[in-house]
Amino acid sequence: MSQPFGNYQNEIYFNGLSGVQPPYPMVFAELAERAEAALPPGIWSYVAGGAGDEHTQRANVAAFARWGLMPRMFVGASQRDLTVELFGHTYASPLFMSPIGVIGLCAQDGHGDLATAQAAARTGVPMVASTLSVDPLEDVAASFGDTPGFFQLYTPTDREVAESLVHRAEKAGYAGIVVTLDTWVTGWRPRDLRTANFPQLRGHCLANYLDDPVFKSRLAKPVEDDPQGAILHWALSFGNPLTWDDLPWLRSLTSLPLLVKGICHPDDVRRAADGGVDGIYCSNHGGRQANGGLPALDCLPGVVEAANGLPVLFDSGVRSGVDVVKALALGATAVGVGRPYAYGLALGGVDGIVHVLRSLLAEADLTMAVDGYPTIADLTPDTVRAVAY
Ligand SMILES: Cc1cc2nc3c(=O)[nH]c(=O)nc-3n(C[C@H](O)[C@H](O)[C@H](O)COP(=O)(O)O)c2cc1C
Repeated sequence: MSQPFGNYQNEIYFNGLSGVQPPYPMVFAELAERAEAALPPGIWSYVAGGAGDEHTQRANVAAFARWGLMPRMFVGASQRDLTVELFGHTYASPLFMSPIGVIGLCAQDGHGDLATAQAAARTGVPMVASTLSVDPLEDVAASFGDTPGFFQLYTPTDREVAESLVHRAEKAGYAGIVVTLDTWVTGWRPRDLRTANFPQLRGHCLANYLDDPVFKSRLAKPVEDDPQGAILHWALSFGNPLTWDDLPWLRSLTSLPLLVKGICHPDDVRRAADGGVDGIYCSNHGGRQANGGLPALDCLPGVVEAANGLPVLFDSGVRSGVDVVKALALGATAVGVGRPYAYGLALGGVDGIVHVLRSLLAEADLTMAVDGYPTIADLTPDTVRAVAY
């Protein structure tokens, strides 16, 4: 049996008896509202915004409301088991933190990557650490405690830099490599364009590159002497428009589990599986990359079917514990949350993230209790129905 995540509500109610109320919001809308007030405007709009008029971003969230869980009675689900086995490691729950490239900047002290790793250590909810971080991947991994995270690779055009990043992640103790495929070019983001704001071009979140021996060897002058030159080199080499021909090379880079992020079409799932990946990560980048797309949740059942037993990680639009349960019912092996933990971080550092994660897990756990589904294996597609109105 896993931890009784639902007990978080007892903690809150009992604290209330001594007049203590939770310092952080209990629902996403208030979390977002307070994060907006806490963050510098440029960081807020970069994190909260998405592609185009943000229709796909909203649709990701709305898609969850189109599914309803069917409650079952006389089950006696007094204990729930939310543990999942992923690539040989048993995790306390199926929840994980999706990679967020500017998470470092969401913390009041500017070290949000480290805070996220510490929250992972405290909750058992692993993080997927972005290539774009304030602190280098080695320092992030050093804060994981017993909850190993995954390293997310943005594949540069320079293959040797990519190799160096992956090998550093292996050495630092990451549990797997997640290659993001949907962001070799930045999507059209009006909020950021309106303020001409792209944090990395201002030199933020580039520690993994500026610390990398191979990247540094490509620069005409040392980073300290010519930071602008280093940033320009980063910008010119950041995005590699990978094709299927690159998959054997990616596979050859590591013996760690290899996952591919941004996959939505079943044919892409099958081809990636044939190419030897260990897991599929179904996501539309939280609607930040291409507007006008399908909600990621609508793609999930097809991805799961095509994955034919390979683990399927899912994110985009998860805002509550009930959303986590629905994604599991539709076949996800593990469910990622993005913006909500960034907002928790903005409000309360490590404690703020821990609150967001514990709230998601408590609601998921209690929903499984009330609806009579004691284990994740009980959450089959038959447990959800399309909502008729
Ligand atoms: C501000 C921001 C930065 C992101 N940076 C990355 C990144 O560096 N790498 C990546 O693979 N995905 C990145 N993503 C996408 C997330 O991993 C995830 O797919 C998305 O946030 C999930 O949607 P949600 O925010 O609706 O939960 C980013 C998302 C946000 C909001």
